[in-house]
Amino acid sequence: MRIFLYFLVYFLIPQICWTHQYLPIDRIPDWKLKNDGNIGPSYGQPEQIRISYGGDPSVSFVTWQTFDDTLQSIVEYGSDWKFLNQSVLGRCSVFLDRNKNSVWRYIHRANLTALVPGQTYYYHVGSEHGWSPIYFFTALKERRNDGGGYIYAVYGDLGVENGRSLGTIQKMAQRGELDMVLHVGDFAYNMDESNGETGDEFLRQIEPISAYIPYMATVGNHEYFNNFTHFVNRFTMPNSDHNLFYSYDLGHAHFVVFSTEFYFWTQWGFHQIKHQFDWLIEDLKACNGA
Ligand SMILES: [Fe+2]
Repeated sequence: MRIFLYFLVYFLIPQICWTHQYLPIDRIPDWKLKNDGNIGPSYGQPEQIRISYGGDPSVSFVTWQTFDDTLQSIVEYGSDWKFLNQSVLGRCSVFLDRNKNSVWRYIHRANLTALVPGQTYYYHVGSEHGWSPIYFFTALKERRNDGGGYIYAVYGDLGVENGRSLGTIQKMAQRGELDMVLHVGDFAYNMDESNGETGDEFLRQIEPISAYIPYMATVGNHEYFNNFTHFVNRFTMPNSDHNLFYSYDLGHAHFVVFSTEFYFWTQWGFHQIKHQFDWLIEDLKACNGA
């Protein structure tokens, strides 16, 4: 099965691939092929839990990673941490970054919908092969105090080494002093390094932020490797399968996120510059016309 998937990911899917490669629901993982009830995934423990804004305050995306196929991707949630009475089944995509010793990463995504703005939800993610700790988040709602609106932390250039602001942002996120993070480029330094372990380390380090408030990502030059493949495959942004350019509304603001990197990394083709430009014009037209 793994050889088949390897073939699929490497040869049938074009190199410049901007969509997540979701595994079929009816797949049979390697460990199940062994037909031994005592054998499960070699690494089914979820990690790198992060939420992102779904483009509407009633929608939240939850993303996490495992190092083996857990077959199911589940979020259990509820307004009481002792009673996670709601459950949603997500999807799993496989990610091979084409590094020399490319690691199999399983990226799980689930959408929580019909959330009530202002309500706090407790949740954990995983499958019968491993569950995360229980975290919580509050569905986005405009503040009554602090001058109204929303409070954003906007920054770029945060790496796994010497991340001096990490502790402060983590504490503010957990105390409800921030509503959302906008990380505007340059993650981990770099996510592709050490066969992607640097990316894994970074996403573990930000989990005490990203598990509590939406962590929104914009691509930077440090994500250039293999046409931004780590950025495309690891994150889940609204109204986009690739995270490279997208837009969303929150409150009175229309947020437009796009890549200035396309102009510097033209070895992957000029078509993405045009594609993005066309999208931007249409997005702004629609926004102004609304
Ligand atoms: Fe930078």
